[in-house]
Amino acid sequence: MSRESISKIAYKTLQQSKSIAGFAHKQISSRLMNFILPDSKLEDFDIDKDLLIQIQNSMDNLREEDWNDAEKNIYPKKLLFDEPWLRYLTQYPKIWLDMPNTWDRRRKQNFDDLPKSIDKDNYPQYYLRNFHHQTDGYLSDFSASIYDLQVEILFNGSADSMRRRIIKPIKEGLKTFTNRKKSSIKILDVATGSGRTLKQLRAAFPKEKITGIDLSDSYLKEASRYISDLDGDLIQLIKGNAEELPFENNSFQCISCVYLFHELPRTIRAKVLSEFF
Ligand SMILES: C[S@@+](CC[C@H](N)C(=O)[O-])C[C@H]1O[C@@H](n2cnc3c(N)ncnc32)[C@H](O)[C@@H]1O
Repeated sequence: MSRESISKIAYKTLQQSKSIAGFAHKQISSRLMNFILPDSKLEDFDIDKDLLIQIQNSMDNLREEDWNDAEKNIYPKKLLFDEPWLRYLTQYPKIWLDMPNTWDRRRKQNFDDLPKSIDKDNYPQYYLRNFHHQTDGYLSDFSASIYDLQVEILFNGSADSMRRRIIKPIKEGLKTFTNRKKSSIKILDVATGSGRTLKQLRAAFPKEKITGIDLSDSYLKEASRYISDLDGDLIQLIKGNAEELPFENNSFQCISCVYLFHELPRTIRAKVLSEFF
């Protein structure tokens, strides 16, 4: 068997294991919640078998696409195996310890349980809530410290493969600027969060200037720690609102944005999009 196919099998096995681990965690934790707090239980609903097959197929396609893009050198293959296991190991017990708080918020349908210390005037109204029932919304160091693993579990281990879907279209789009030095190309990642997308971008665009912007101090601090040892130019991190990007028009040749729009109210989505053009 060639080295190539062995590493493809290793990649698929890793992805499938993460997917099983994500499903298992959700199954165990929701059964425990139903047992301890039966009134938190959501209404039972049957998931259509065909839909499950479609989801499974689309996850298989995602992995295939991820592998093929790395094969074509759209990004380095090492990204496919880049898992911060040590970080996950420290984050996982925190997720379990925090779970009773999450269940309680879910039971009470309490979406605005936020740290008392925050100054609410500094944030838009829609931002002041617990997305996915998470503790402190985006407004604490604790929330930032467990976010990566929470997302990984939520997406059954496919969070980074999905993040990497932005790289191919960015490479295509930047072909317009082939007459320019790569170091003069600027990429902005909006709602950059804890730095996982920045890491994927830096690996695929080692020479370009990359900036990440986010509204959360805590998530920016987490990102700063996470990306501090990456090769290449320092990535700039800026605190700011995607609704009013603090840059001159046409300052960037590319803007990326991952996992933000589903959390924005419809009118704000339009406002943020209009900032990109
Ligand atoms: C689901 S996370 C996505 C983070 C990151 N892009 C990723 O790949 O994991 C959403 C992020 O959007 C940020 N955010 C939400 N509304 C924002 C706004 N109006 N301006 C800037 N950042 C915002 C949050 O602080 C949070 O870090």
